[in-house]
Amino acid sequence: MENLLLFTKENSIGRLVINRPDRLNAINEALLGELESLVDALSGDASLKVLIVTGAGEKAFVAGADIAEMSRMSPAQARAFAARGQAVFASLESLPFPVIAQVNGYALGGGCELAMACDIRIASDKARLGQPEVGLGITAGFGGTQRLPRIIGRGRASLMLFTGGAFTAEEALAMGLIDKVVPHEQLGDECTKFAEKISKQDLFAVRQTKACIRNGLEAGLSAGLSYESQAFGLCFSEPGQQSLMQAFMEKSAKKSS
Ligand code: COA
Repeated sequence: MENLLLFTKENSIGRLVINRPDRLNAINEALLGELESLVDALSGDASLKVLIVTGAGEKAFVAGADIAEMSRMSPAQARAFAARGQAVFASLESLPFPVIAQVNGYALGGGCELAMACDIRIASDKARLGQPEVGLGITAGFGGTQRLPRIIGRGRASLMLFTGGAFTAEEALAMGLIDKVVPHEQLGDECTKFAEKISKQDLFAVRQTKACIRNGLEAGLSAGLSYESQAFGLCFSEPGQQSLMQAFMEKSAKKSS
């Protein structure tokens, strides 16, 4: 292990820092391997309520897959690299709790794809996002051609993917790729604030909500609705639901007495 990832946990909020700042946190095979192991370990952590993902250093979230490493790959190695990256990002996306991308700078190529595998994207006003792969003679390989049109629509995704351009955080917000833009100095606090707000909600209900969103998006509306009604019913077998509704009823009764 080269410590290409830093992970800490405080008050049920996990914080994952992609830690390769001298290469603008570019994703190489070793980093993918560490991410694979960490995501696997986190998926079984029942106490984790939210995960924040960000990049080390002042400049980048992740500036893409490692171009130096890719420049030496054969077609078969490149295909395996893409398949592995896709699998790791799919595991990250499937984590049972919400994941927030704290986009602190360049999120290009694999970096934009990493952010898209998270549930929520909050960006610094200094961030730049894009899929520059076509300028290197390749397609996106870690899910970009698939997640981007699903998140922002075919036209805008095509614009980004065909031109390879880097977009400002404000432009990305207008396109729906980013969910909120904040001044650079406030980014960490703002993401922590959202994570804390989520962590104060009922853990079971939040996890079920994430599962409903994910399953519904993958399966379509009617299957998603059916999944939602099952999840809704399941919540009623949880002690959290009973005590939270009881507390509301008691508060209402006190107000009206
Ligand atoms: N893969 C490998 N190394 C990378 C990298 C990547 N994706 N992105 C940056 N680096 C390295 C640079 O080669 C440089 O190394 P050096 O110090 O040995 O020269 C170091 O990180 C710092 O980057 P640098 O280019 O000097 O920073 P900059 O501020 O001038 O430019 C970017 C920043 C993001 C515009 C520029 O680094 C860039 O275009 N990176 C590639 C982005 C990309 O195409 N990603 C998609 C890959 S599929």
